[in-house]
Amino acid sequence: MSEPVHVIRNLEKALADDDFAWSLLLVGEDQTDKLAALTSDLRAGHSETGDGKQISSGFSYWGIGPTIAWAHAVSDPFYLVMKAGAESFVRHWQKIRPHVAKDGFHFVSLGVGTGQKDRVILEDLRAAKPDLFYIPVDMSSEMLRLGTQEPVRGIRFPMTQVLPVQLDFSLVDNMEELGQMLARLVGDDPLLYTLTGNTLANFDSDEDVLDTIASVLRPQDRLLLEVATTTQINEDAAKAAADEYHRTRAFTEFVTSALRYNTDLPIDLAMVEFRGSVTEDGDALLVKVLFTTDEPLVMGLPDHTDVVLEPGDTIRLYTTRKFSAERLDRLVAACDLTLVENAHSPFRRTRRPSPFGLDLLLLAPKSAQASRRTIADEMWAR
Ligand SMILES: C[S@@+](CC[C@H](N)C(=O)[O-])C[C@H]1O[C@@H](n2cnc3c(N)ncnc32)[C@H](O)[C@@H]1O
Repeated sequence: MSEPVHVIRNLEKALADDDFAWSLLLVGEDQTDKLAALTSDLRAGHSETGDGKQISSGFSYWGIGPTIAWAHAVSDPFYLVMKAGAESFVRHWQKIRPHVAKDGFHFVSLGVGTGQKDRVILEDLRAAKPDLFYIPVDMSSEMLRLGTQEPVRGIRFPMTQVLPVQLDFSLVDNMEELGQMLARLVGDDPLLYTLTGNTLANFDSDEDVLDTIASVLRPQDRLLLEVATTTQINEDAAKAAADEYHRTRAFTEFVTSALRYNTDLPIDLAMVEFRGSVTEDGDALLVKVLFTTDEPLVMGLPDHTDVVLEPGDTIRLYTTRKFSAERLDRLVAACDLTLVENAHSPFRRTRRPSPFGLDLLLLAPKSAQASRRTIADEMWAR
């Protein structure tokens, strides 16, 4: 009796002959567990500082409503940080590119978003290695479908070399499994992981997430990290950081969309507060976006239970940070990484000089024995 032919082997041929817009998706986690996690986060205790009920990173983008709201926010001309980010990325990448151009990297994009940056990277990596795999990883299947249109259909990258993975990469077990699966897929070929768009700043613990990602890097792999930076750490700068996000209505629509789609709360944008502060370590600016209430509210959750929000209670909708060079150096060292290259742009779109900027860092695991440079040295050398 002949061996049955595995479905995956036949799928390539089956999809190639069809002009319907199929996309392939590898789902790494049970999505009911994710909904249970979100529901439990929304049931946390009373907090007036955004440290009780919350929508943690990943959940803000989860589902079709938040995905569309994100796509609107990034294309809003008033969302200056995003606009500046898209423009500076191309310049920054030119400086980083020589370090990865020739080595034949496969590309693992952690958090695809709308895919514009992935397109730039993919085009360059493809020139060096036409048979590379593109592996976009995201918690949101809708974001994966939307975000891979630009890099895949836009540059006619073959679908047979794309493997979208739906997974929460902030969880240690998930990242370990992903790392092992990728190593089996590509053998000893190097992998370029990317975490762009200041995504690292969205997590409760930036160090835990960076460490989780760094721990799967093999000596030949690299991590491209894009972060928002600041040269000033004080209350005024923290307030300016909060104002920067507050200015954009489309961004406020985006941060409330997860609440809109997963609860029955009536959302009034006037109840959204942007609070800036200096972090406890004193080496970064922290912005918390909060849904606040000054009257009791009943919130229906996805499991059909209700939670009462008492006056003063908050739901943290989004967290973001601006990093000082010292904090970045501390994070890089704590996660056993070294700096290979750093590109920086100051933020110039304000009337007064701004301490804010964007940095693109190429990092290697310490085991790679790359040259030892610090981000603080780079900033002083500018
Ligand atoms: C700030 S956007 C950045 C998008 C893009 N990389 C860029 O530079 O513009 C964050 C992206 O990461 C995804 N994301 C956030 N947290 C995640 C998590 N824990 N696991 C998987 N994806 C996550 C979101 O769905 C979104 O696509």
